[in-house]
Amino acid sequence: MPGDSLEALCSEAAELRAQQESISARLAKVEQKIASSREAKRPRITSPTNTAPQPKSYTLWPEAAAAVAARRAAGQILPIGAPGRVPRVYVDGCFDMMHSGHMNAVRQAKLLADEVGGVLVVGVHTDAEIMRTKGPPVMREDERMALVAAVKWVDELVLDTPYTPTVEFLDSLDIDFCVHGDDMSIAADGTDAYGPVKAAGRIRIVKRTEGVSTTDLVGRLLLLTRDHHAPPLDAPLCASSSQAVSASGAGAAPPPSPPVVASPGAAAYEQANISSSGVSQFLATTRRLTQFSSGRKAGRDERVVYVDGAFDLCHAAHVHALYAARRRGDYLLVGLHDDATVNARCGANHPLMSLHERALCVLALAPVDEVILGAPATVTADLLRTMNVALVVGNADPNYLDHPGAAAGDGDGGGDRYAAARELGRYADAEQAHPLRLEEIVRRIVDNRAKYEQRNATREKKELKYVQEKAFVEEL
Ligand code: CTP
Repeated sequence: MPGDSLEALCSEAAELRAQQESISARLAKVEQKIASSREAKRPRITSPTNTAPQPKSYTLWPEAAAAVAARRAAGQILPIGAPGRVPRVYVDGCFDMMHSGHMNAVRQAKLLADEVGGVLVVGVHTDAEIMRTKGPPVMREDERMALVAAVKWVDELVLDTPYTPTVEFLDSLDIDFCVHGDDMSIAADGTDAYGPVKAAGRIRIVKRTEGVSTTDLVGRLLLLTRDHHAPPLDAPLCASSSQAVSASGAGAAPPPSPPVVASPGAAAYEQANISSSGVSQFLATTRRLTQFSSGRKAGRDERVVYVDGAFDLCHAAHVHALYAARRRGDYLLVGLHDDATVNARCGANHPLMSLHERALCVLALAPVDEVILGAPATVTADLLRTMNVALVVGNADPNYLDHPGAAAGDGDGGGDRYAAARELGRYADAEQAHPLRLEEIVRRIVDNRAKYEQRNATREKKELKYVQEKAFVEEL
């Protein structure tokens, strides 16, 4: 056939190739349109700087009262009982060494506010007010405020509130009722600090969280400062030094049992589940973890940022680091090392808070989306794939960067805990760290040892009385 000549076949092939190219070009254009259309329909992730939560700003009480008066005058705040009014609920505290008990009180107060469609106003006492009523606070005002401002249930934040709130005080902030744990506070003159608002029927009592208190944490810190089982104070308490490692052995050795300090009546405290031994008495339940958790999973297109560490005695520097990490993406995943890992690294009585207590504190913070309980000490490529991590931010505490086992060549990734993330181009150093360190908190306790021991003796008696006399209060 003439059409089957070599020339004809070549020409047909050329024509088909041209058609194929044109079809491929059209197909590419259609695929491009499909992709754009899909992209347009996808839920939008706004830029991280827009979505990242910010610490709640605060006002001093006189300014807050003036602002409330102005809003009232402008008709923005309606009188109590008026239709359309947004109720205002108040909870206050020292929030010294803010722990999961404090956070749980704020959470329960927020639930009560939600029940009536209201907002939660949180009041914090100044250092001077705490000094006057309870003795020296461990954490300074700005450090305490950094924690409270990061708690996700806070709507409005006021500093310089009175330890003894009066009805006039509640009115000045246009508060419907205040909330307190069922451990009532004693004012400097020995009377019930909430007596006036109780008498006016403007208080709601929530269940105090047992097994954790500032007194207990000060007690654990006092034990930590005892020479016979703490590293020297001029050495970092949480360092990658061989001393810290050899104190308890590298790897996942169980934490040593801290010595029980004999004290008069110790048995009574033990029976009441009040810690005098430096061991956490906190009972963690899965329900509590669920209450604190956001329950939010990362969206497919969200940039997951990972940070890890001990986050023991959750303080202002942790909050600073968590916000900084969260700003680098859309979703913050925090890997918490288990107690044995922290103890192997830091020795002595570390960690001061158990894994579950640490998890609750971190989960209560606005920048945190999710926590891994007992994260691997070395960040593996597998972990990054499994959790779809886009960026690992190094620990902000330089003492916590390396794996302590590395010096002994334990074959689990060398000294650099972040080697896998670096190799994948998914690692960034932490931004400049906040200066507060656990060593500094311990030093404050050491410097004021006598005062804290005296304060704790009084406070422990109060806690014992609470446990012995408590009635059943349903937890929200
Ligand atoms: N709170 C709680 N559970 C705890 C400790 C405190 O529910 N384990 C509540 C208190 O009842 C109060 C709020 O947290 O409503 C703020 O407490 P704060 O004044 O800061 O301190 P204390 O009650 O003295 O708590 P701590 O014993 O920890 O110092």
